[in-house]
Parts: sequence; C-alpha cells; structure tokens
Amino acid sequence: MKKIGIGVMGCANIAQRSVIPAIINLSDKFELKAIASRTADKAQVLAAQFNTTPLTGYDSLLQREDIEAVYMPLPTGLHKEWIAKALLAGKHVLAEKSLALDYNSARELVDLARSKGLLLMENFMFRYHSQHKAVWEMLQNKHIGEIRLFRSQFGFPPLDKSNFRYDKAVGGGALLDAGAYTLRAAQWFLGRDLQVLSAVLYIDPKSDSDIYGNMTLRNQSGVVAQLSFGFDNFYQCNYEFWGSTGRLIANKAFTPKTNEMPRITVDKATGTENLEMPADNHFVNILDEFYSSLLSNKHSEHLEDVLNQSKLLDCVRNTSIKVNL
Ligand SMILES: NC(=O)c1ccc[n+]([C@@H]2O[C@H](COP(=O)([O-])OP(=O)(O)OC[C@H]3O[C@@H](n4cnc5c(N)ncnc54)[C@H](OP(=O)(O)O)[C@@H]3O)[C@@H](O)[C@H]2O)c1
Repeated sequence: MKKIGIGVMGCANIAQRSVIPAIINLSDKFELKAIASRTADKAQVLAAQFNTTPLTGYDSLLQREDIEAVYMPLPTGLHKEWIAKALLAGKHVLAEKSLALDYNSARELVDLARSKGLLLMENFMFRYHSQHKAVWEMLQNKHIGEIRLFRSQFGFPPLDKSNFRYDKAVGGGALLDAGAYTLRAAQWFLGRDLQVLSAVLYIDPKSDSDIYGNMTLRNQSGVVAQLSFGFDNFYQCNYEFWGSTGRLIANKAFTPKTNEMPRITVDKATGTENLEMPADNHFVNILDEFYSSLLSNKHSEHLEDVLNQSKLLDCVRNTSIKVNL
C-alpha cells in the first residue's frame, strides 16, 4: 500500500488532540514526516510527542520533497495564503474548516487545485461519523414519514478572549466556526441547492465579530432548515428532523468523542426510541477519505463541496441583519 508523506502546519490544539493521533492510527496509509510551527519550541515539543521532525516556519514544511500532503489547522484568515503556497509547492491539502473567508478566495484556491491536479478538502470530519449514515437510512426508509423541517444548533459558552475566534483579522466569528457545521449538515441532508431566506448575526462591537446567529434556508423541494450557532450560548451540538409521523434528534451531532456512543432519539405517536449508535472515529474516517480521494484522483466532489459551502456562507453574510450587541 502506498504511504503518503504528510506534514502538519501549525501546532493547533485540534491537531494535537485529534488529527495527529488519527494520522498515526492510519500508519499504513500516512507517514507523519514533520510538524511545523512559527515557533521552534512549540514545534519541538509537539514533534517529540509524536516522534517526528520539528520544523520552524511553515515554508520549511513546503520545501520538503518527502511531504506530499499538508494538514492545515490554521485560523481561516491564513488559509488563502498558505493553501495557495502549499498547492503551488505541489502538495495536496486537508484544511480545517472554514476553508475560506469568502467565495472568491475559495474559487481561486479550487481553480489552483484543479490546475495542479491536487486534492483540496475541508476537514468537516463529522460527516464521516457512521451515526449520520444510520440517520440517512432511517430518513430514506421513511422512519419518521415525510420531512417537514430540519433544525440544527451548535454553540458553546464564551471562550478565552485571546482565542483567535474573536479576531476578525484571522477569520474569527461564530458563523465561520460553529455556524459552518450546521450549514454543512443542512447541505448534506437537504442537498446543495439551498437558498438562504434570512439570517441574523449578532456582532460584538469590541472584536467586530459575529458571536452568535441564526439562519433559515430552504431546498428546492421546499424543506426548510433553521440553523443556530454561537460562542455565548449554552452548549448545544445537535440536529433534528421533524417528520410527518415522528421526530428524530441526533443529540451529539458534530463532536462525539471517539469512544462515545452518540444517542439518536426518535419520538413517534407509539413512543420514544433511544438508539445508542456505535462509537466511531470520524477523524480517522475523513483521513481515510482524503487518502482514497487523493490516490484515485476523485477530487471534484470535494472541490465542489468547498465552493458550495463558501458560496452559502457568503449568501448568509450578505442576507443577514446585523445586530450590534
Ligand atoms: N475539525 C474539527 O473538529 C475542528 C475542531 C476544532 C477546531 N477546528 C479548526 O481547526 C483550526 C485550529 O483550531 P484550534 O482550536 O486547534 O486553534 P489553535 O489551537 O489556536 O491553533 C491554531 C494554530 O494556528 C497557528 N497560527 C498561525 N498564525 C496564527 C494566528 N495569527 N493566531 C492564532 N494561531 C495562529 C498556530 O500554530 P503555531 O503557533 O504552531 O504556528 C496555532 O497553534 C481552526 O480553523 C478551527 O476552526 C476544527
């Protein structure tokens, strides 16, 4: 089996906690060649933890010929520069969400990936958790009848104010962060043809970033999605389908731990079913998808996903009423 040499750009929390362990888990498919940081000390500590090479400066990662793919967990506002540099250096890229600040940036990066024959994928790992396939099958089998409404909420209490998510200059804001998950989930279940009907973004005057918000969309069959997200909210991480004969709720839709059995609740007139879904590692699963797409040259679906997601995010921003807090 061909092994892909992969490098990590930035000592991000998510890299340390979830994605590098998943890379190591797939050691028949990936070889972790190096971890780069802006700071030598940080690179050394993390590289030592995962028994790989520390590099100072992101450029040094891109100069390595043994690295074919880059995992990029940088803040969104840095993606345009570094994804472009990585693609120009001939590397496939798995970039954290949100991949781009806006549609024009996404378009440029996708065009570049296409022209170079490289894979560019956005790391929406939740999509690859088996619980959603089980939900998908229940919906197809009309377990709750015809779908009347999709609703999703992802939000959490305030973060440390030094977190880059409050820094507009590097792409902060709740829409590009938590909101992006709900939008991606709506597209996966309702289709790519979503139209934004309305949105409200609540803006913190200090950081000039959206801290929470709501959006309403509909697909071509008329099914409506109501999505809510935020950084100043009671923790919620779910989606819900209201059908003609029942209601289905995924209680831990986006961030189930790899050893956690997420619960799906189905309410019907006959009673409530609480279904324990098998634990799954969506970080390993998305890396598996990255690996097979990269080798099979099946890039186009992932590139289309990037474009659709960023187009919708633009529509939400342009449609939204902004409320100053
Ligand atoms: N898919 C998921 O499950 C998931 C979950 C959480 C977060 N994320 C995404 O992953 C990315 C990282 O999130 P995180 O929570 O892990 O963040 P984090 O710990 O703050 O890491 C971000 C990294 O980016 C680098 N960086 C470069 N310039 C920076 C700047 N101006 N400000 C801050 N960091 C800068 C830093 O690496 P060096 O200092 O080493 O260069 C830093 O460690 C974000 O895009 C986020 O949306 C994804």
